[in-house]
Amino acid sequence: MSEFQGRRIVLGVTGGVAAYKAAELVRLMVKAGAEVDVVLTAAGAQFVGPATFQALTGRQVWQALWDERMDNGMAHIDLTRGAAALLVAPATADFMAKLAHGFADDLLSTLCLARDCPLLVAPAMNRQMWENPATRRNVAQLRADTVGILGPAHGEQACGEVGEGRMLEAAELYDELLASLQEKLLRGKRILMTAGPTFEALDPVRGLTNLSSGKMGFALARAFAAAGAEVTLVSGPVTLPTPRGAHRIDVRSAAQMRDAVLAELPGQHVFIGVAAVADYRPRELSEHKIKKGSGGITLELEPNPDILAEVAARADAPFCVGFAAESRDLAKYAEGKRVAKKLGMVVGNLVQDGLGGDSNAVTLFDATGAHPLPLAAKAEVARGIVSHLAKLLEAPRGHD
Ligand code: PMT
Repeated sequence: MSEFQGRRIVLGVTGGVAAYKAAELVRLMVKAGAEVDVVLTAAGAQFVGPATFQALTGRQVWQALWDERMDNGMAHIDLTRGAAALLVAPATADFMAKLAHGFADDLLSTLCLARDCPLLVAPAMNRQMWENPATRRNVAQLRADTVGILGPAHGEQACGEVGEGRMLEAAELYDELLASLQEKLLRGKRILMTAGPTFEALDPVRGLTNLSSGKMGFALARAFAAAGAEVTLVSGPVTLPTPRGAHRIDVRSAAQMRDAVLAELPGQHVFIGVAAVADYRPRELSEHKIKKGSGGITLELEPNPDILAEVAARADAPFCVGFAAESRDLAKYAEGKRVAKKLGMVVGNLVQDGLGGDSNAVTLFDATGAHPLPLAAKAEVARGIVSHLAKLLEAPRGHD
């Protein structure tokens, strides 16, 4: 993963128990190639010490406004110069109040005022502090000042109470930060997509399925959402967390997937089929578990609906994108599917490259030809697909 390669992030840590999650966030960002400068407030250092952040970032940690390590004595200004973003996580109620009123009485609050990069805060506080009218006013002011507010989440709190105010998890903050840095190439677009395998039941415990993990589709959903699209993700049975910002509908069989897609179709600008939909299903569904006998059994299969073909054939079809998973002759079969189903684009991949793992190598087939994207993490491949799709959506519509 090199999603933050070449980017420097300034992470402010204020005094909340959620500071331990900031350490994990730093680990994720550093692993993804970021340079992270941590700025600890005095209260933040009560929860996680500078040695932890120094070890995780491999860089010195900043704590004092009067720090003499910066040659010109201008740590409060220089630290954000050239940074991609300043994220304060956790951000306490007190720190947000300071920000809303423009106080600058320590290094972090001064950096926030003197910055020339986007500012995001991840609130972390007791639910009553979060609901307090003073905090509500401060949050509204910060939003008006174009400060990004990430979360908070609802759930059990360190104090034992349950409600809104928990800081987002490190992986969620990572996603939010990454999304905030992406160009909004698909802003205003509504995208409906399928992902994962389908499961075609034989009896109450058995069924036919395939090895799709859903990773490619979920990476795309994440990339679409990060690019500003409104994403509806119809997913077969997978064990992946819902990409932030996507509206997820879980289904099991191809027939359920088709019904969900058709119900969600009105008003969509794009339909994209990433799911490995079973082409056939058992003709009979046994109400009870099929018992073992002495001989073999024969399964009779009937075809499933082709969801993509059905959507693409409609008079009101949105821009349709298919995936083609092949084990050989990728160009021939993928381009064949694009033309046969009258699709705006087909993403071709070899099963040996893309099925199940974390990386993929794809070729995008459209009316202008074939556009290969090299082997890379699925998240990176997804971003390549997003930027190509954005260009196609800008171009006058037509298939061939
Ligand atoms: O999930 P991962 O482990 O990350 O793996 C990703 C992937 C390899 C599954 C993915 O990249 C991929 O190639 N998905 C499409 C797999 C597939 O079923 O291809 P196909 O050539 O059989 O189908 C062509 C297109 O028609 C696909 O867009 C498919 O969603 C759609 N289709 C197929 C059959 C059917 N009954 N209904 C459909 O909508």
